[in-house]
Amino acid sequence: FDTVADALTVLRQGGVIILADDESRENEGDLVALAQDITPETVHMMLREAAGLMCTPVGPEIAERLGFTDMVAESTDPHQTPFTYTVDGTFEATGVTTGVSAMDRAATIRQIANPMATRADFNAPGHTQPLTAKEGGLATRIGHTEAAVDLARLVGSEPAAVIIEVLKEDGTMARRDDLFAMSERLDIPFITIEQISAYMTVPAV
Ligand code: 5RP
Ligand code: CA
Ligand code: ZN
Repeated sequence: FDTVADALTVLRQGGVIILADDESRENEGDLVALAQDITPETVHMMLREAAGLMCTPVGPEIAERLGFTDMVAESTDPHQTPFTYTVDGTFEATGVTTGVSAMDRAATIRQIANPMATRADFNAPGHTQPLTAKEGGLATRIGHTEAAVDLARLVGSEPAAVIIEVLKEDGTMARRDDLFAMSERLDIPFITIEQISAYMTVPAV
């Protein structure tokens, strides 16, 4: 694996990393980028390379301010992935029209990360899927959602990110060997959630 410091450097520069959860959990790798300044080019690359479900993890303070509430009141998802209802930026606030082009998704995602944004800047339902990270981040829930938001906080950006699961050519999930190969091919860092938790844990003195 690469180091968390490497991953933070790449994210800070607007790049993409690969983030695996535990092999005993989902055993999945997500591509991760910061939401704040995401470009259509990066959204398009992530959709092409990963082919999973693109989501926008946000800190609970953003979900609260924008009124993004849970998609389902009584979730029965085994991993309790915190899906909210879906959104598109409004034409007035973001210029979004269909909502699904790489350009429109990038515009919606940047507006979600915009600290000046309000609920009125979004139509719902839409083509962008926010996820609400738990208060306390990885200390509370060990999902890609919390890991991505904690990474955003670590680089000092707005607490919002873009994630998408990596599928293989044959449609099955990419596992660790596949993810190492992808990391080599694209020349991007590959880290685990466990590494981020360790990085954030200050050893007791
Ligand atoms: C949404 C998902 C992914 O697994 C994503 O990584 C977020 O979920 P989690 O926080 O549970 O890892 O299901 O596409
Ligand atoms: Ca999942
Ligand atoms: Zn996940």
